[in-house]
Amino acid sequence: MSMPKDALIQLIKDVDAVATTKTLSSLYERCGILLPYLKKLDPENLPGDLAAGFAKVIYTVEKWSKDVRGANVDIWLQLSDTLKKSIELLYGNDGSTTDSDQVVKKFWSSKQYSILNNNLGHGAFGRTLLIRDEDIGLVQVAKVYDPKNIKDENLKLRFFQFFKDEIKILHGLNHRNIVRVYAAHLYPSGHKGIILMEYVSGRTLDKYIEKYDTNIDDINDVFLQIISAFTYLESKNVVHRDIRPSNIMIDDDGVVKVIDFGCGKWSNPSGTCSDSLASVVNHDDAKVLPEESFDKEYTSQTDLFYIGEMFDRIIPGSECESQFRYMEQVKKMASTSQMCRYKSFAELKNTLDNTPAFVGVPSDAEKAIYTNFADSLMNAIANRRSDSTIALSEENVLSGLDSIVEENYYAEWIQNVPNLISIFISGNYRYHTKAKISTEVVRDFRQWFGRVPSRTKDVILKSLRARLKMVAIFDPIEDSIPF
Ligand SMILES: Nc1ncnc2c1ncn2[C@@H]1O[C@H](COP(=O)(O)OP(=O)(O)O)[C@@H](O)[C@H]1O
Ligand SMILES: [Mg+2]
Repeated sequence: MSMPKDALIQLIKDVDAVATTKTLSSLYERCGILLPYLKKLDPENLPGDLAAGFAKVIYTVEKWSKDVRGANVDIWLQLSDTLKKSIELLYGNDGSTTDSDQVVKKFWSSKQYSILNNNLGHGAFGRTLLIRDEDIGLVQVAKVYDPKNIKDENLKLRFFQFFKDEIKILHGLNHRNIVRVYAAHLYPSGHKGIILMEYVSGRTLDKYIEKYDTNIDDINDVFLQIISAFTYLESKNVVHRDIRPSNIMIDDDGVVKVIDFGCGKWSNPSGTCSDSLASVVNHDDAKVLPEESFDKEYTSQTDLFYIGEMFDRIIPGSECESQFRYMEQVKKMASTSQMCRYKSFAELKNTLDNTPAFVGVPSDAEKAIYTNFADSLMNAIANRRSDSTIALSEENVLSGLDSIVEENYYAEWIQNVPNLISIFISGNYRYHTKAKISTEVVRDFRQWFGRVPSRTKDVILKSLRARLKMVAIFDPIEDSIPF
């Protein structure tokens, strides 16, 4: 329900008239007419102080609309300022409700933004734009929410609530595989709004599979990252409810980002969330539905079903089919019977973590990255003392390589080779002072090592350890004799 423009303008006039003539007469009549409209406005969408003040206005208008005897000009004067400010914020200065372009214009005019791409994608309720905040040079994504095709006011309200939930849910999440939200602006009068979030430079899952490059891409890693994101969501009692390839992105570094929490919900403590919308509307491309959808029930186990169902649908016959190692798990996930499915993401993750460390056949690109790095390292080390140790831990390798990459950010060749060797050998060793190690080789290795699943990391460290064991040993005693 939107406020008739004339009524609103009249209300603002009345507010002013009371202030100047100190008479409440016209206001008494209007209280009754305007109350339902004021009540539809959500004070939650106002800044903190104003929200409390606005709630007081509604309370007073309601009281006076029933009985004017308690009305008092002084009280009204205290409230009128709040009312005017609230109306301006919720409706705009002229009282008109804005359409989506005006929403966008209003938003743009508040800051220096340039639009880099005005349609990254669009759904039923608006579109997604790529913009740059010129003040700080930050590229970000603006998701404009505008249900202009929905005429039914109740439905509009309901979907607007979903949109607000999307913002709240995203604000409460912090995970490497879930898109980060920066800010949100709401325009409740028209049930519209904008979410600003990190830009994921990459591809959606459908495009990823369509353009799959068996040398560079890694569908297994993508699968494990998706499971990691959803295990986290499950631990936060959040269900996504709109699982489809266009809502999962893979950035240029191979990092998965789950996006679009437009249908997201908090599940109740028993893990269920019942909503007729949940099961069918969002899964029109699913071939089968999980049994709980017939009871209009949705839990994390239902998200688990849809991820399984999606992989079962998009992997067979695709370029990455031969590389994909989790078909057995996918089948169990996609079981329509809840009994036969994994109980939870936690259970699935546990199973995946304990699956024997089979990493399949490395791609040529992976082999090249590994070999370039291991060869460079080996060529630089002359020998090591017998009491030195090869102690490789995932954490030390990651943080050690990070500082090397940083220290040599502008250098073509690693400037301090012993710093690099010390990540892998503790104790004494000798190195060839003329050895040159390319910074790019180290950087490539670091990036690749950082994004492979932990079981592949183990295998890489095992291979490096085996290689470093080949370094010649020198004896400290003999070596210390001066003649
Ligand atoms: N943060 C982002 N970075 C890059 N592209 C995005 C981002 N968010 C959305 N997109 C693109 O826009 C499309 C629509 O966004 P989405 O949030 O899924 O909205 P809708 O509710 O309309 O489906 C996505 O499928 C994706 O291609
Ligand atoms: Mg989407």
